[in-house]
Amino acid sequence: MKIKFTYLIIFLGALLLQACNRTQTKLQTDSEWQSKIDSLLELMTIDEKIGQLNLLTSGWDVTGPNMSENYQQLIKEGKVGGIFNAFTVKYISELQRLAVEETRLGIPLLFGYDVIHGHRTIFPIPLAQSCSWDLALIEQSEQVAAREASAEGINWTFAPMVDISRDPRWGRVSEGAGEDTWLGSQIGAVRVRGFQGTDLSANNTLISCVKHFAAYGAPQAGRDYHTVDMSERSLREWYLPPYKAAIDAGAVSVMTSFNEINGVPATSNHWLYTDLLRGEWGFEGFTVTDYSSIYELIPHGVAADSAMAGELALKAGIDMDMQATVYQNHLKQSVEKGTVTMQKIDAAVSRIIKAKYRLGLFDDPYKYCNLEREKTEILTPESQALARDFVSKSCVLLKNDRQTLPIPKTVKKIALIGPLGNSKVDMLGNWSAAGRAEDCVTLYEGLQEKSLSYHFSLSYEKGCDVLDASTAGFAKAIQAAKNADYIVLALGEHGNMSGEAASRTDIGLPEVQQKLADAIIALKKPVVVVLFNGRPLTLNELDATAPAILEAWFGGTQAGNGIADLLFADAIPSGKLTMTFPHSVGQIPIHYNMKNTGRPVTPDNPDYKYKSRYIDSPNEALYPFGYGLSYTTFEYKDLMLNAKNISAADTLQITVEVSNTGNFDAHEVVQLYIRDVVGSVTRPVKELKGFEKVYIPKNESVKVNFKISANDLRFYNLKMDYTFEPGFFKVFVGPNSAEGLSESFELR
Ligand code: NOJ
Repeated sequence: MKIKFTYLIIFLGALLLQACNRTQTKLQTDSEWQSKIDSLLELMTIDEKIGQLNLLTSGWDVTGPNMSENYQQLIKEGKVGGIFNAFTVKYISELQRLAVEETRLGIPLLFGYDVIHGHRTIFPIPLAQSCSWDLALIEQSEQVAAREASAEGINWTFAPMVDISRDPRWGRVSEGAGEDTWLGSQIGAVRVRGFQGTDLSANNTLISCVKHFAAYGAPQAGRDYHTVDMSERSLREWYLPPYKAAIDAGAVSVMTSFNEINGVPATSNHWLYTDLLRGEWGFEGFTVTDYSSIYELIPHGVAADSAMAGELALKAGIDMDMQATVYQNHLKQSVEKGTVTMQKIDAAVSRIIKAKYRLGLFDDPYKYCNLEREKTEILTPESQALARDFVSKSCVLLKNDRQTLPIPKTVKKIALIGPLGNSKVDMLGNWSAAGRAEDCVTLYEGLQEKSLSYHFSLSYEKGCDVLDASTAGFAKAIQAAKNADYIVLALGEHGNMSGEAASRTDIGLPEVQQKLADAIIALKKPVVVVLFNGRPLTLNELDATAPAILEAWFGGTQAGNGIADLLFADAIPSGKLTMTFPHSVGQIPIHYNMKNTGRPVTPDNPDYKYKSRYIDSPNEALYPFGYGLSYTTFEYKDLMLNAKNISAADTLQITVEVSNTGNFDAHEVVQLYIRDVVGSVTRPVKELKGFEKVYIPKNESVKVNFKISANDLRFYNLKMDYTFEPGFFKVFVGPNSAEGLSESFELR
């Protein structure tokens, strides 16, 4: 009798759920959502609840051990809340059907994927994108990524990655927005807006996942997954703001980082995930581990076994277990033993279910499974055009002696030389999601297209491999160079030499490529080096000898076309570095917003020994943050402030005149930095506080205006209050972090 009664309740509950699903339109308020979620929770068994916390890979792409080969069976048993690394309408519908039609409660699955710089249309790697300083373009590219990914069944992207990093040895700098906190925050926020749009329940938006919380970009010695040890001041001031900005922009989920922070791994860090993220910042979405990071609490040495690891993570505030299956295997026993509470599990489940409601999955679990969309919304001509434009806006012109670039359109013979000149797969860079090598345009193909318009002959010689030491191809390459009027050298890293688990101790050009470059440059012909790489490199030798260097990063599907546009001035370089290029690894960490120290090197004592300096290297960067040349020249003048002193209630107006004094109409990224001269704690020599990307026709000038208020001058003071302090401030406006005009004002 008792059993029958239980069945009756379940039956009524299931009817109620279906009714809820059918009538679920747009739930507006949290309390409406909460009552839906509560009714569902009432119906769920503990196993079904723990199932919602379980995120498994379908095995299409893996970045760690694959622990769940039987995921399809587990879905049917109601033991899975989401699947990642699966896409295509056919496959996703199949998996969703298992969840919706074959489980007792029919709760739909989330489908996650690393849509990091595009889905099928691959845009430049995120570090490159940030060099465009074009927030609107970044947002547009995420809209395209969301449209394409959602047309293939995905509803959740593991992006944006907003880890600030000051260490180019760390391979994952390629996935971020560089070294600056302020810029990184702006970019993190627009990425979230791009993915999520204004309507999460639309079928062409994705929920985003801010990662890797926190400070994953500061591993010791640049070695991936390594220890992070830093003061709370540095953490709050330099590393946390981009996560906060992305959350404030509405990010629905947050991913943990693999590293420990000051002795506590992020995945078991109660301070980080409960006190700070939910308590201080009011984050209401759900959290997910980075891959098997719950299990990794054992090798970290804070958990004796998997059961303890699961308890630590859940108690810290981690809702979803990606791929470690620790929650699935142990949480039930932990509840029975009384080491975790049912309330904690319910809270985690509620947050995940809420995301599913917000996506509208209870209304229509197959809303992202539309074959027509899959056919028509992927790799459209519009998205290719956007990608091409993005490539040319992301490249950074590092050197251009004697106007080697642009290549004259009258050129007769071009030799393209180098291992990256015609490698489709490398153009994708790392984390290229569903991107396919065959969809990529190489530089060779981009130049071929140009040869049709400008009628030059094009030859290609690889010369050498990216890493292999063989010089057997040099002779042919040199011969091709001798026969040409213009030489384009395509050098750099393989796409997979940056990204996850791709730290390097030597970030120079591989030796064989340097030798090839030396041999070609020695011919004393016009040579332009086009670099493909996912991090700043040490380029002293090239910088000393190559007439022109264009940093092209990895541009994605339209890489070759976008670069060729720049080489022929069909687009004009406007990119500026968002990460410092050091002279040598020994200078790392190096970033523009350093502290002055008590013994700075100053112009009046450049050679004095007892200063904060190296005896074998300059302190300065090879190419500083914010740096990038154009084919034209710009002159900055008349930096003016509307007041010499302001109060906390005032807004300071800053104006500068920028003139295009060269021969091309072009964009310039005008940058605003400040320095707080005296503080209760030391302040950096410069801090970016604004920028404007302006278009200036040749022989014309524009006035660029900035505003600064006391709020922009806040920092963590001696008592760790986030506030501003009265005193003198310097203002710098210029073309990069090392040059420009300066003025000062007082905050009273
Ligand atoms: C590990 C990576 O650190 C993370 O960025 C990624 O989202 C997950 N794997 C899932 O692929």
